[in-house]
Amino acid sequence: MDNFQKKTEKTLYERLGGFDAIAAVVDDFLSRLASDKQTGRFMVGHSTNSKKRQRQLIVEFLCFATGGPCEYIGRDMKTTHAGLGMTESDWQAGVKHLVATLDKFKVPQKEKDEVLAAAAGLKKDIVEK
Ligand code: HEM
Repeated sequence: MDNFQKKTEKTLYERLGGFDAIAAVVDDFLSRLASDKQTGRFMVGHSTNSKKRQRQLIVEFLCFATGGPCEYIGRDMKTTHAGLGMTESDWQAGVKHLVATLDKFKVPQKEKDEVLAAAAGLKKDIVEK
């Protein structure tokens, strides 16, 4: 029964600590985006329920994208961010907040690099100018 013992590489989802850990990361990241003047302009003017819905979709997106047991049922990244007018500078501010969040949760370098690389892959769909 050697195969039972065989160690396989864990998914990024597992290595980040699973659903609750990802939800906590999203909450911290969203509150950083909201409290910064530059990125906060994207987060105003939404009802409480719309913000909860958005938060839920981001948690599910990350759960799905990192190999977890979720399905992502939201819109694709290009459709959902189109028209926000996000600039390169806004994006860089967002990445800075994401790094601060990952550091706060002491996410190890390897996993941090994987999260940042995955986010970088979405940039072309999110940044418009
Ligand atoms: C500076 C970075 C970002 C800002 C300021 C930002 C801002 C926003 C805003 C304002 C919305 C709501 C759009 C609307 O419904 O009118 C949204 C939706 C969303 N964003 Fe972002 N976003 C950023 C980066 C990202 C990244 C990196 C991801 C991927 C993990 C992401 C995932 C999502 C998802 C899943 C939704 C909801 C999709 C839906 O409603 O169907 N965002 N974002």
